[in-house]
Amino acid sequence: MEYVTLNNGVKMPMLGYGVYQVNPAECERCVADAIRVGYRLIDTAQAYHNEEGVGNAIAKSGIARSEFFLVTKVWISNAGYEKAKASIEESLKKLQTKYIDLLLIHQPFGDYYGTYRAMEEAYREGKVRAIGVSNFYPDRLIDLQEHVDVKPAVNQVENHVFFQQTEAREYMRKYHCQPMSWGPLAEGRNGFFTNEILKAIGDKYGKSVAQVALRYLLQQGTVIIPKSVHVERMQQNFDIFDFALSEDDMAQIVKLDTGKSLFFHHADPATVELFMMWGK
Ligand SMILES: NC(=O)c1ccc[n+]([C@@H]2O[C@H](COP(=O)([O-])OP(=O)(O)OC[C@H]3O[C@@H](n4cnc5c(N)ncnc54)[C@H](OP(=O)(O)O)[C@@H]3O)[C@@H](O)[C@H]2O)c1
Repeated sequence: MEYVTLNNGVKMPMLGYGVYQVNPAECERCVADAIRVGYRLIDTAQAYHNEEGVGNAIAKSGIARSEFFLVTKVWISNAGYEKAKASIEESLKKLQTKYIDLLLIHQPFGDYYGTYRAMEEAYREGKVRAIGVSNFYPDRLIDLQEHVDVKPAVNQVENHVFFQQTEAREYMRKYHCQPMSWGPLAEGRNGFFTNEILKAIGDKYGKSVAQVALRYLLQQGTVIIPKSVHVERMQQNFDIFDFALSEDDMAQIVKLDTGKSLFFHHADPATVELFMMWGK
């Protein structure tokens, strides 16, 4: 495993397992499989409704809690100091843990300054080892980091070969905020798994399209959290530390960037209205 040291000195694995859209009933089995494969970073969220499954799998694994790196996120409906504070306690309970390794604001909507204050408090109390944000584009990231005491350690944003976030990553670097990718496999969109360029590069190393795309993000210094409910795919996505992409490979993959989201843009009014609805 490779690790990155965050702006507060905490060591974070560069590769983890994400559980978005993993059915709550199946989550414990999936995380148990992922742990057996070797994953120690698990990325969940209040909004995924599967924190309990993550907590159960970790509790039953027989592996020390200190070996894991648990990430969860405060949802929009819990925005604001009081609600966020209560929701952090609830997440700790569901995850069956005394501390969360990394706590993120899931979306830059609602009273997220209040949320952040509750997160800073939890951080000072030792209930959280690092705090950060998700889906904060440079405008919101710069503003937030300027007005808080504990600077965000991580920003988790959509980031894959088709949306490479070049400018956003530069700003994260400038403000010592570690980039973390969601949707590293683009959830298979845009013909991802049959992309000819990724396939041709993979053939040279005996690696799959998924492995090439994950390795690309890793070599850019981005933390990745691919999701799969299939154990053989979990294994495949984990097996990316025994090869390296050349400069020429990297240059070819740079060209796949469309500069656009494959999902939604957080500054698009229709998207914001959708989030307002989901946040109710
Ligand atoms: N902060 C946010 O707003 C946000 C938003 C989205 C996601 N996330 C986080 O990021 C994680 C990853 O993103 P994601 O789940 O959206 O998408 P993803 O990891 O890019 O793609 C997952 C999809 O790819 C398939 N897949 C996985 N490995 C494969 C392989 N080796 N070969 C072929 N197919 C494969 C999975 O199918 P099967 O499961 O059927 O194998 C699933 O359909 C999430 O789980 C979540 O933790 C965060």
